[in-house]
Amino acid sequence: MDSQIDWHAARAALEWQLEMGVTEAISETPINRFEQVAPPPKAGVGPGVAAPIVPVQAAPEVDPVAEAEAAARAAPDLIALQAAMAAYRHCELQKGARNLVFCDGVAGARVMIVGEAPGRDEDRIGKPFVGRAGQLLDRMLAAIDLGRDREGAQAVYITNVLPWRPPQNRDPKPDEIAMMLPFLKRHIALAKPEVLVVMGNISCQALLGKRGITRLRGQWAEAEGLLVIPMFHPAYLLRNPSAKREAWADLLDLQARLTKKA
Ligand code: URA
Repeated sequence: MDSQIDWHAARAALEWQLEMGVTEAISETPINRFEQVAPPPKAGVGPGVAAPIVPVQAAPEVDPVAEAEAAARAAPDLIALQAAMAAYRHCELQKGARNLVFCDGVAGARVMIVGEAPGRDEDRIGKPFVGRAGQLLDRMLAAIDLGRDREGAQAVYITNVLPWRPPQNRDPKPDEIAMMLPFLKRHIALAKPEVLVVMGNISCQALLGKRGITRLRGQWAEAEGLLVIPMFHPAYLLRNPSAKREAWADLLDLQARLTKKA
């Protein structure tokens, strides 16, 4: 042990390890067991006798996107889809999240809102859009007579591109979006909305393949065989209240489209 560490520090470190559940002292340096490919000599295999050569098995290549596609495709309904997402192990975000945030509102509603990723409040509660941005979203929806707690033609269904909170609310990475996209697409197919509202750049990137919400907002598009309207994210509107004027125009446009389609 380093002679610079005094007895008290060494004891405190040991006690901490015991508290963390350490029960065995193995080695001071980590051992990479994957490098130990040769099996121990068997009885009768002594010096001068060649040990059998065991071929090293390369770990099978895992394609996280292909695995997500297979898992999503196999989900026959929303409950199974949620379970498949919870069982999916390739997204690092899952390790730091408290909850999988799957949905809120009414599955089968005409309007499905796709946000970006859970924040702190959503991670704690396990539902999308429950923080300040969510409260603003509820007010925006109420202004055109829609709501996640409404029924029938007034109902709304809400989800996010990512079901787990990114640390410190950082932007999701492209590989995280790519691996969770098959689940989002299946989510949309199973929820069967008529219209998608994609909020913010991350959602536009995921579903429309492009960013630039200032340019895209209010421009009807198509994704997953559905009508899509990109809108400013409510968190952006909280930071930029002057953009509420455009958001209001987009809400009215959405309302008009729903009335026309009804
Ligand atoms: N922002 C989002 O995009 N989604 C949430 O659920 C909360 C905040």
